[in-house]
Amino acid sequence: MRDVAAAAASSGPRVLPRNDPRQYDDLAGEWWRPDGAFAMLHWLAEARAALVPPATRPDALLVDLGCGAGLLAPHLAGKGYRHVGVDLTRSALVQAAEHGVCVVQGDATAVPLPDGCADVVSAGELLEHVPAWPRVVAEACRLLRPGGLLVLDTLNDTALARLVAVRIAERLPTVPRGIHDPRLFVDARALVAECARHGVDLRLRGIRPQAGGLVAWLLRRARAARTGATSAGRVPRIVPTRSTAVLYQGRGVRSG
Ligand SMILES: C[S@@+](CC[C@H](N)C(=O)[O-])C[C@H]1O[C@@H](n2cnc3c(N)ncnc32)[C@H](O)[C@@H]1O
Repeated sequence: MRDVAAAAASSGPRVLPRNDPRQYDDLAGEWWRPDGAFAMLHWLAEARAALVPPATRPDALLVDLGCGAGLLAPHLAGKGYRHVGVDLTRSALVQAAEHGVCVVQGDATAVPLPDGCADVVSAGELLEHVPAWPRVVAEACRLLRPGGLLVLDTLNDTALARLVAVRIAERLPTVPRGIHDPRLFVDARALVAECARHGVDLRLRGIRPQAGGLVAWLLRRARAARTGATSAGRVPRIVPTRSTAVLYQGRGVRSG
């Protein structure tokens, strides 16, 4: 495995190591482009938000760890939460704030928010970017009030995930080249055990983009790149799949 993403030509002017957070600055203009480099994050955000029920009390708080540019925000509209986003990347947080997120610049392994403040904690596409991911789990569980809900999605630490999410997906416009370091992918059983240690009974399910929708989207994007036409149209839905071997969602409630 190469340490340095060799694809600077398509992902920005700099050649940065895999998973280097500065890649998010280089790609800052892509976050809110529906067919841009982060398109799949939009599809995943919609699927993650579907796991979040409407708030059951006034002033309910949802803490979005590694919130990026706040792609979860439109999918939470009307659910009644105050959406607080925590991220390392300032250029992303500026955009999150523009989309109504109350932003906090900080590290998800040491979140500057009080114990038990959150009705919901979300960690979407974050754990596989953090070498000390168990610290993020500990922080997520610390932030949850008893009965609060943890939702997350991440990539499994399997050979199949490395093949699909790195070798294949990075050759398609679905995943920016070099954004993942597959050495950081998150073993599903270890994640469930870590959550249990912190009082959250995490249930997993495999997810994937719906195949027909993904192929149609890729063809439409390729045509748009060739002809300069707009690539607007339907986007792939994220659907459940039997295997958690590549991409999976987790949902669990913190015990009282
Ligand atoms: C793949 S993006 C996902 C963004 C967002 N959750 C979404 O799904 O649209 C990963 C995000 O995690 C952030 N990040 C990486 N390591 C972090 C850390 N230790 N603490 C906080 N944020 C982190 C990056 O800055 C980036 O915005």
